[in-house]
Amino acid sequence: MKKIKIESFLEVYPSMDTLPKAIFSLMEQAIVAREQAYAPYSEFLVGAALLLDNGQVITGNNQENASYPSGLCAERTAIYYAMAKYPKATIKTMAITARASDKETTTPIPPCGACRQAIAEYEIRQKSPIDIYFMGEAGEVMRSESLENLLPLLFTSKYL
Ligand code: THU
Repeated sequence: MKKIKIESFLEVYPSMDTLPKAIFSLMEQAIVAREQAYAPYSEFLVGAALLLDNGQVITGNNQENASYPSGLCAERTAIYYAMAKYPKATIKTMAITARASDKETTTPIPPCGACRQAIAEYEIRQKSPIDIYFMGEAGEVMRSESLENLLPLLFTSKYL
C-alpha cells in the first residue's frame, strides 16, 4: 500500500476591492446576477459571471423549483448558456458570489461538486484553464487558476 498526497494552491484576496480591475468588474456583474436569482426555497442567492475570449460576459444565477432537484445552480446556468450561445468561445474567467437571506456570508462560497464537474468538462474541451474567483457576500475572495485545483481525481471521458 502506498499513500499519495494531492495538493492544491489557491490565492486569497482580502476583499473584493483588492481584485484586479477587470476581475472586480466581473464580480460586480456576478453580484447583479445573484440579486436576480430565483431562490424562493433556499433563499440562498448565487450569481456567476463568465468572461469569454470574444469579450462577451455571460451571467447566470440559481433557478430553483418546487420539485427541488429540478433546480439548477448559478454556475451551470451560466456555463451552459454561454456554451449554448457561443460554442466556439473560450471561457477565460469565472466570478461567483453567494449570499444567504438570514446571515451575512463572509467566507468564500465555492462551487458545488456538480458544478465543478460541469466546469471541468469545458476546461478540458477548450484545452485552457478557467480562472475562477469566488466569494460570499463580503470578505475574502478565493482564486483558483484552474478548475483542476478544485476537483482532484477528476472523472473525465478518458475513463469511458
Ligand atoms: N447553489 C448554486 O447556485 N451554486 C452552488 O455551487 C451551490 C448551490 C444553489 C443551489 C440552490 O438553489 C441553493 O444554492 C442552495 O443550495
